[in-house]
Amino acid sequence: LLLLLLLLLLLCPNGTRQRLPQTIIIGVRKGGTRALIEMLSLHGDVVAARNEVHFFDWESNFERGLSWYVSQMPLSLPGQLTVEKTPAYFTCSQVPQRLHRMDPNVKLLLILRDPTERVLSDYTQVFYNRLQKHKQYHPIESVLLKDGEMNLDYKALNRSLYYLHMQNWLQYFPLGHIHIVDGDRLIEDPFPEMKKVEKFLGLSPQINASNFYFNKTKGFYCLRDHGRERCLHSSKGRAHPEVSRPLLDQLYSFFHEPNRKFFQLVGRTFNWND
Ligand code: A3P
Repeated sequence: LLLLLLLLLLLCPNGTRQRLPQTIIIGVRKGGTRALIEMLSLHGDVVAARNEVHFFDWESNFERGLSWYVSQMPLSLPGQLTVEKTPAYFTCSQVPQRLHRMDPNVKLLLILRDPTERVLSDYTQVFYNRLQKHKQYHPIESVLLKDGEMNLDYKALNRSLYYLHMQNWLQYFPLGHIHIVDGDRLIEDPFPEMKKVEKFLGLSPQINASNFYFNKTKGFYCLRDHGRERCLHSSKGRAHPEVSRPLLDQLYSFFHEPNRKFFQLVGRTFNWND
């Protein structure tokens, strides 16, 4: 036993080991989840899983159990926060219950963006994926509309019905456990949004305004970490397809009522076009 302890100490100096995440970015897909986790990682007390783990939403992973989940986490020191992001969690109905069973006190981060913008971003992502695989793609009008009406079978529309998914989360977690990051504001001015995240997570104030600088070529804020400057991958911040004014208005009015329901549910409004 002594030998084993010694070996553990040698392998993991200072109590470094893999831990379950105490904070999870649950979504929403295309809300700015990568930007959020990268910005949060600027903090010295935060360590983030590199890839999307898909533990609670993919059966094949969930069946492997918590020991597998822990094995996907980065090494951390005692006192450091482990964070993972899997944007699909927010819209997957069985995730809240599973996550609650793992840790009812886990702190959840949800980054949301104007639902219409999110749909266009979702479409753009699938468009590029298909283009890469030399697969056929459909013009945006043909996926959004069916007989002139909004095509409710189009999954990207459903993902933007935030109140539907939020209702499900609130059955398991109180609102106080879920911090909503305004994804539109994070794009325009990340620093104030990140200060709120720092506070919600009970982290010491370490993230500074100087950690962010606007990159004109990219058209987005990029990060400065110990003098090293970097922007997000080129797949983040791509131009969206042109959508005709009438179709855009149709989208805005489609989301008007769901947005109102969402604001009521969370007791807060967002500056979304509707
Ligand atoms: P677009 O590429 O449609 O503009 P996710 O990481 O959840 O997939 O979200 C991607 C979105 O993050 C991008 O969508 C982009 O608008 C947004 N984003 C927020 N801050 C960003 C930043 N600093 N750099 C690049 N993209 C950012």
